[in-house]
Amino acid sequence: MGSAILKVKNLVTSFNTESGRIRAIDDISFELKEKQILGIVGESGCGKSVTALSIMRLLPKPSGVIESGQIMFNHTDIVDLPAEKMHEIRGNRISMIFQEPMTALNPVHRIGKQLGEIFHLHFPDMPKEKIRDESIELLQKVGIPDPESRMNEYPHQISGGMRQRVLIAIALAAKPDILIADEPTTALDVTIQSQILDLMMQLQKETGMAIIFITHALGVIAEICDDVVVMYAGKVAETSPVEHLFEDPKHPYTKGLLTSIPRLESPRKKKLSIIKGMVPSLHELPNGCRFQNRCPEAMEICKTEPPPLKRIADNHFVSCYLY
Ligand SMILES: Nc1ncnc2c1ncn2[C@@H]1O[C@H](COP(=O)(O)OP(=O)(O)O)[C@@H](O)[C@H]1O
Ligand SMILES: [Mg+2]
Repeated sequence: MGSAILKVKNLVTSFNTESGRIRAIDDISFELKEKQILGIVGESGCGKSVTALSIMRLLPKPSGVIESGQIMFNHTDIVDLPAEKMHEIRGNRISMIFQEPMTALNPVHRIGKQLGEIFHLHFPDMPKEKIRDESIELLQKVGIPDPESRMNEYPHQISGGMRQRVLIAIALAAKPDILIADEPTTALDVTIQSQILDLMMQLQKETGMAIIFITHALGVIAEICDDVVVMYAGKVAETSPVEHLFEDPKHPYTKGLLTSIPRLESPRKKKLSIIKGMVPSLHELPNGCRFQNRCPEAMEICKTEPPPLKRIADNHFVSCYLY
């Protein structure tokens, strides 16, 4: 596997809220390698979307701030990059598919127009006919049947699965080096979900881009990822190549997630987790390990000091005093 294309180092992202400043991301580090699919998994509220928005530098303003740390894209730290430079990277080099597919498409514009605008934005010299041809080709590539007539339709005229494919097409139009997909299948039914996952894998192979795939379902990770980062309450609980994680999970949180896997998540049974209790609120984090109140193996030390992320094998890191 290739070298790292994106390195997140000791990232801390905070929000200024009415009840004070909270750290949604507290000192996380991980790497995305070239041509890889990296999964980020964790229950709702663990900081997955905030991680993605930090990388994109699209945190809500002015409340969201990157307090410290580095995000190295190739050899550039994008944390301090001027807005216009970041604008170039975003879209051209790093694209994102957002969690809410309904809000990401403009309801009053035809699909062809929305896709065409992206081509025009990134390739201003591309003639109209060429944009149209490329758009049709891209819609075909993401598995949209009869793309020519779909070009003339509005978002509400197509199914949720097709809308998600259009969003993937839009994200791919700029030929990014990195695609960040934030729960792109969560709103879809199971059959469509697995079609979209297949599509993501196929597109990864065809284009050679690297993908960060965010999900709350470990089952999805097993299907498509090379490496995985397990997040808990704004921290990395465990990170490793995907086969290690499934064969030899270390963190009690990972073990808990593993026992609650349906093979593919079903939108109707979202909260299947059998780990007792809830992710702690960022306003009242405990001293020590953030998982202590739900952990079947918690010890005295877990209540006092936060466990450091410790390397236990090649590329396998865990933040737990058991190791
Ligand atoms: N705009 C915001 N303002 C204040 N706090 C936020 C905001 N967005 C996220 N957070 C905090 O960050 C935590 C992580 O959010 P998020 O990354 O969206 O979780 P998820 O893992 O479900 O994607 C939330 O539980 C919340 O406490
Ligand atoms: Mg999210």
